[in-house]
Amino acid sequence: MTEKKDKEAKFLDLVSRVQKCTKCPRMEGSARVLGPGCGPLNAPLLFVGEAPGRLGADGSHLPFHGDKSGHNFEKLIEQVGISRYEVFVTNAVLCNPKDENGNNATPTGAEIENCVPFLRETIEILDPAIVVTLGAVALKSCGIVQTHGLSLKDGVRTKNNWMTRTLVPVYHPGQRAMVHRSFANQLSDYQFIAETLRRLNQSPRRPTSKKGRSGSEKLGDVARRVLEAHPEGLSYFALHKLCFLAEVASLEASGKRLTNSYVVRQKDGPYFVDLHSAKLPTLIPGIQLRNSSGKLSLHLSPQMLLLSPNIKMTLSDQEQFIVERVLTKYGSWRDAELKRVVYLSKYMRALLRREQKSGANLYNAAVLPFVSLDEE
Ligand code: URA
Repeated sequence: MTEKKDKEAKFLDLVSRVQKCTKCPRMEGSARVLGPGCGPLNAPLLFVGEAPGRLGADGSHLPFHGDKSGHNFEKLIEQVGISRYEVFVTNAVLCNPKDENGNNATPTGAEIENCVPFLRETIEILDPAIVVTLGAVALKSCGIVQTHGLSLKDGVRTKNNWMTRTLVPVYHPGQRAMVHRSFANQLSDYQFIAETLRRLNQSPRRPTSKKGRSGSEKLGDVARRVLEAHPEGLSYFALHKLCFLAEVASLEASGKRLTNSYVVRQKDGPYFVDLHSAKLPTLIPGIQLRNSSGKLSLHLSPQMLLLSPNIKMTLSDQEQFIVERVLTKYGSWRDAELKRVVYLSKYMRALLRREQKSGANLYNAAVLPFVSLDEE
């Protein structure tokens, strides 16, 4: 077995044991958040958070995705040019602990201890050069895996030798911790992390964070153009699928991605984490989200429909041409037809083949390769 396949087999075995875990009584109804969507198994950097959030990872099954902590985390890594494609993200406790009112609770000592063997095994399988703990619970948990003697207050933003790797403690990106460490300070912490990663010189290609070249600006442009072409409105589903088809067309035309957004396989096909409904208003000014019988539809406001064609795009002419071609071909297709065509793409077919071979559910695994925007 190749080293890569061996890692994958070990990881999938760990995931299946995690899914069956019943050690903590109050986690009974919570998702067990560990799977291929956490990141690549050869990631040089492992982020360890506290526990999945009720409104985030417990529903999205992706650590730090879908709630305020997740938005903050995704904003911080994007701003320093780190992509989810090159890091692995997990939590000290893999299920969402709730208090008696159903709100997020801090994991108890026993819950942390129960999950330590899973964290230890994750570290052993991944063998990352850098481990970054997000908050006190993650730091404590790593200290049980192997003593480090660090406290968050004194150890924040420092490099420490730990288990033959580097341990960097930083604060948790949730709103509560921002009281102790502002967003601006946390951004400096993430710059330190990005620099540590860069110095390792073993990280794969990384997106640029130069102004005007950020992947999410480009994704915003693609998504805005898709909406502009649908003044009558568009389903949330169709937005994700049309953006995916534009990415596929770009890869076919130039071998490059249009954006650096993390695209993962969900039940209904490819999903862009940066097109989460709560992020759309920031990403696409003037967007309106309407919920009708549980189905989300998206519209550009009449003012934005007028203004939009005059907004300068961060996409090159060739990239805009690719998006236009996709809209001409698939823009009027119904959701079911779009679903069929994305499932027939070589990227979805490759993933489905991997699922068949491993016999495992690869929900949330990355569907598209990460091809750096730096390489132009
Ligand atoms: N979401 C996570 O996955 N972990 C946290 O610690 C908080 C939110």
